[in-house]
Amino acid sequence: MTTRTVAALALAGLLAAPAWAEDAEERLLVNDEIEITLRAPAPEHLDGALPEIVSGWVYRSPETQDLQRDDFDNPGILYVDQAREVWNAALGSEGKSCASCHDDPESMRGVRPVYPKWDEAKGELQSLEMQINECLTDQMGAEAWGWDSDDMKNMTALLASVSRGMPIDVAIDGPVQDIWERGREMYYTRYGQLELSCASCHEQNYGNLIRADHLSQGHTNGFPVYRFSTTALVSQHNRFRGCIRDTRAETFAIGSDDLLALELYVASRGNGLSVEGPAVRH
Ligand code: HEC
Ligand code: HEC
Repeated sequence: MTTRTVAALALAGLLAAPAWAEDAEERLLVNDEIEITLRAPAPEHLDGALPEIVSGWVYRSPETQDLQRDDFDNPGILYVDQAREVWNAALGSEGKSCASCHDDPESMRGVRPVYPKWDEAKGELQSLEMQINECLTDQMGAEAWGWDSDDMKNMTALLASVSRGMPIDVAIDGPVQDIWERGREMYYTRYGQLELSCASCHEQNYGNLIRADHLSQGHTNGFPVYRFSTTALVSQHNRFRGCIRDTRAETFAIGSDDLLALELYVASRGNGLSVEGPAVRH
């Protein structure tokens, strides 16, 4: 951690006690069935910036952690169930449901880990939200859903849930390389009056307490997450915006190219961690 970072954090009265007591017996087996990889070797592109990558679950309190062990206790699963109903409902002028073309949601296993992903036909990087909207408008003759709408968050939670346990595996080369590099630049840019970058908190201070909250490495494998503070699902872009706002900076719009580039880069830092969504956070 640089002197500047310490100064900025201290100035903001943010950084409190050091050191996080690690639980030697940490394990997350969802529904007694799905083994979650909580620690994995850091991807090569991190070039030693992190000794290993660690799921955000590890830094939560035991009470919050327990809620993710079983779907009966996980409040996020209520939204997954709502999305299952929408999955089977005819929407739009074509009278089709998601199920008309995609069978059951379980057929989407393996999709969440590789998003955001390059769409060859459209020649653009697509998040899950963009892909879902493409199906709604182009395939179903329906209205697009707002990026941060309940329908959208519920559907991305459903798509995450059927891939739980699979390793995040986004591509960072080929046509997406430039976007990925832009995302990396954003990650290390110091924003706001506090002059803090994502790395100031999530790379240099994970494990430390900040406003009574243990900082994690800021991975996105648990998204969308259910948060107690909002009693709702929270999307990745919403979380990014909140973090940037905390540095007292102007922030980027949800669904913007900027946050999409950041989404790709942050996802790639977590390549190897399990999909956990919807994870539970406070
Ligand atoms: C009329 C058929 C049709 C309907 C209805 C439809 N889709 Fe699709 N969907 C497609 C096709 C074709 C593709 C692959 C081509 C593409 O990228 O658009 C696709 C791709 C996808 C993918 C990406 C899969 C992957 O492997 O990357 C997701 C996620 C998806 N659809 C979700 C949905 C959801 C959610 C709904 C309902 C709101 C829906 N689709 C409704 C035809 C449909
Ligand atoms: C001032 C410190 C600070 C900065 C700077 C910051 N964050 Fe965060 N972030 C937090 C805190 C506190 C949390 C909640 C505790 C946790 O999960 O780390 C959080 C949570 C997150 C999470 C959720 C992790 C999970 O497992 O639920 C993600 C993702 C994230 N941040 C990404 C970012 C990105 C990307 C940036 C840069 C644009 C950023 N953060 C900048 C403090 C910060």
